[in-house]
Amino acid sequence: MKRAARAFTLTVNGTSHRIEGEPDTPLLFFLRNDLAINSPKFGCGLGECGACTVLLDGVAARACAYPVRLAVGREIVTLEGLGTPEKPHPIQQAFIDAQAAQCGYCINGMVMTAKAFLDVKPKPSESEVREALRYNLCRCGTHVEIVRAVMLAAERCWSRDGAGS
Ligand code: FES
Repeated sequence: MKRAARAFTLTVNGTSHRIEGEPDTPLLFFLRNDLAINSPKFGCGLGECGACTVLLDGVAARACAYPVRLAVGREIVTLEGLGTPEKPHPIQQAFIDAQAAQCGYCINGMVMTAKAFLDVKPKPSESEVREALRYNLCRCGTHVEIVRAVMLAAERCWSRDGAGS
């Protein structure tokens, strides 16, 4: 049975937005269609590919399969919230430097998943990076460069923050 539309307030990249819709509609649709936040992509729509990944309270989540009602009261961060073209986040810069994008469709999910991963595992091994990105699909096959980018980001953040010293 279809639920009635109602109003929600979503906090996205630090800004509150009032939206209206059905509670079970995926968060991704509101981000893209109502808020014009287009970095999360619609790929499979089934929670399988990772193209739609956003952070919810710092944890990577698949917005295509996440009912909007469950996102209320949580801190939603999208790729737009990490950095800007003028001042990219170190992970974004590492993806640029490693030339990790080919068509670019998966890159949102790769970067957002890497962000959540590196926040809890700042000095990973390559095999841990591979495992962390295992369920993010890239149709172009640029996995080698993507893994290299995440390792590069980890190295830079590690030396910049002086962690482990
Ligand atoms: Fe959400 Fe594929 S579009 S996981």
